[in-house]
Amino acid sequence: MKNRITKAVFPVAGLGTRFLPATKSIPKELLPLVDRPLVQYAVDEAREAGIESFLFVSARGKTAMADYFDKHPSLEQRLATDGKDDLLEKLKNSNIASGDIAYVRQGEPLGLGHAVACARQFVDHDEYFAVILPDDVIKGSPGCLRQMVDAWHERPANYVGTMQVAPENIPSYGILDVESEEGRTIKARGLVEKPNIADAPSNNAVIGRYLLSPKIMQRLVVTNPGFGGEIQLTDAINAEASSPEGVYGYRFDAQRYDCGSMAGFLKATIDFGLNRPELHDDLMNYLRKVVEKAE
Ligand code: G1P
Repeated sequence: MKNRITKAVFPVAGLGTRFLPATKSIPKELLPLVDRPLVQYAVDEAREAGIESFLFVSARGKTAMADYFDKHPSLEQRLATDGKDDLLEKLKNSNIASGDIAYVRQGEPLGLGHAVACARQFVDHDEYFAVILPDDVIKGSPGCLRQMVDAWHERPANYVGTMQVAPENIPSYGILDVESEEGRTIKARGLVEKPNIADAPSNNAVIGRYLLSPKIMQRLVVTNPGFGGEIQLTDAINAEASSPEGVYGYRFDAQRYDCGSMAGFLKATIDFGLNRPELHDDLMNYLRKVVEKAE
């Protein structure tokens, strides 16, 4: 097995119905937090973790995403001529070089596990790969995936990003059955997708960052539909828990925003806005006034 992780799969086939009507013509992953699309945060986090090849599992109606990552020569030329170097730099940083990016389509919405399996030709049989769900925006330094890759170097195994959630939120997540804990890592006896609160083995939830053995791809191909009648990534990872490598949760040190929900998206917009020095004071004064009025 290679001792590097260089490939990442980004499942981006979802319809984004929670953001309709905006998502009628704009893929959810291109909705901006301040001035950068959600998917850009995921790509930057992956790059920081050493990812060199990016595979998007997309779907009908989402071609705007492929355009987004393309080089835009005429616009670059225009900004260069106008001396807008800052903007030019931003624009160039959003490109992914041809050859480092690939797209496959998920023909039918059969579940996250099925979406990841659509990338199977892209994953080498001797290399672990990453999966990133761009809806989960994670702000950290170093980034969440970098932290997980560092843990993987210490002990190669399957890893899922994890954090503790309030009991009422358990049914929205994959949940870890904890065997033991050591520092930030949790050895999992198994994983269960979206259990009822009463049946949940813990409140350690899977967040959308994964480092997976290529064996997961073979498992996914034979995984039966699970929760919601969909082929679940969680179920394939669960099947690996008893393998020699095993499955670990990694409690990342970073702030996670659930940008798949409207409230999470708005919270992230506020925080990322406040984080920008040129916006901070204006936005903060405004927020203070809003809060005063509400009290
Ligand atoms: C997916 C996974 C789930 C995980 C979650 C993290 O669920 O199936 O195991 O906990 O992402 O965001 P979804 O949010 O797509 O329903």
